[in-house]
Amino acid sequence: MLDTLLTRDVALAASIIKHGGLVAFPTETVYGLGADAFNDRAVAAVFAAKGRPQFNPLITHVADPGAAEALGAFPAVARDLARRFWPGPLTLVVERKAECPVSLLASAGLSSIALRVPDHPLALALIREAGVALVAPSANRSGCISPTTAEHVMASLAGRIDAVLDGGPTAVGVESTVISCLGDEPVILRPGGLARALVEEAAGRTLRLAAENPDAPSSPGQLQSHYAPRALLRLGATTVTEGEALLAFGPDVPAHAGAMENLSPSGNVNEAAANLFAALHRLDALDPAAIAVMPIPETGLGEAINDRLRRAAAPRVRAMGEA
Ligand code: TXA
Ligand code: MG
Repeated sequence: MLDTLLTRDVALAASIIKHGGLVAFPTETVYGLGADAFNDRAVAAVFAAKGRPQFNPLITHVADPGAAEALGAFPAVARDLARRFWPGPLTLVVERKAECPVSLLASAGLSSIALRVPDHPLALALIREAGVALVAPSANRSGCISPTTAEHVMASLAGRIDAVLDGGPTAVGVESTVISCLGDEPVILRPGGLARALVEEAAGRTLRLAAENPDAPSSPGQLQSHYAPRALLRLGATTVTEGEALLAFGPDVPAHAGAMENLSPSGNVNEAAANLFAALHRLDALDPAAIAVMPIPETGLGEAINDRLRRAAAPRVRAMGEA
């Protein structure tokens, strides 16, 4: 049992990373559980701390596009997307370079690597100060909702990791958009914090969402029950029954005497994404009979919100899943 330090000291956090320790840190999307990507034992410790039942590949975080291109082979489209959206909530999957020193465990046996330059001053400072690339899955125990505050991380991982670098609540609130650039055309593996329309405009084409196959997920972390609160979720709710909590969206909220969180009273999907996981955490803590979720439009970040909500509502397959 570790004594988990809550700190704002980047130099201290970097020194823990350099010594093979685990430090959760803020990014613009969610908090990540960081470790030295070049250190096999540190990468293995990330899986152990999360309680991941299997080795799903991790995203490697670097401070600039040049560092990413030293690790992966970027086809033209990947280079264009990186130039346009990094730093930002976009993860690109490309082939590993032959000389790529990132732990093979981070790629979970695949020949590819997922890379991202996060848009957060503390994340970038930590990477630069540590002088290594950082693997970082979302900083939550397997099967739980992603953390958007240092307190969420502490509630889930205190005693299992060395430190949490506290940067306050994250701005975007849902994980990065993951795009595979391995084939002839880019494919969305996970809708996320970068809206589809922006990627499509930059790529000059419409993008396919990778087919969902729970037996062989193309993005292995995309198992149906990935984002599960304990409470059952009822999606598309226009009314609320007794005992249910309400996750509302927009100005027209059904009458309800019980617990309620409104993701965005004005109906703004960006605001809703930023509030999503914290609101789910708060409602889940009340242990309601179920959480009734109002309909949320598919536009912009609504695609990622609805993806996470569908997973949270899906039948639980935690034995084979992860988070
Ligand atoms: O916003 C984010 O992406 C956060 C912050 C901390 O950066 N990280 C995050 O990591 O969400 P994680 O481990 O929870 O999700 C990583 C996703 C998974 O769906 C995983 O399967 C996919 O990226 N992935 C990683 N490497 C891959 C690869 N080589 N091929 C396909 N998918 C990959
Ligand atoms: Mg996760």
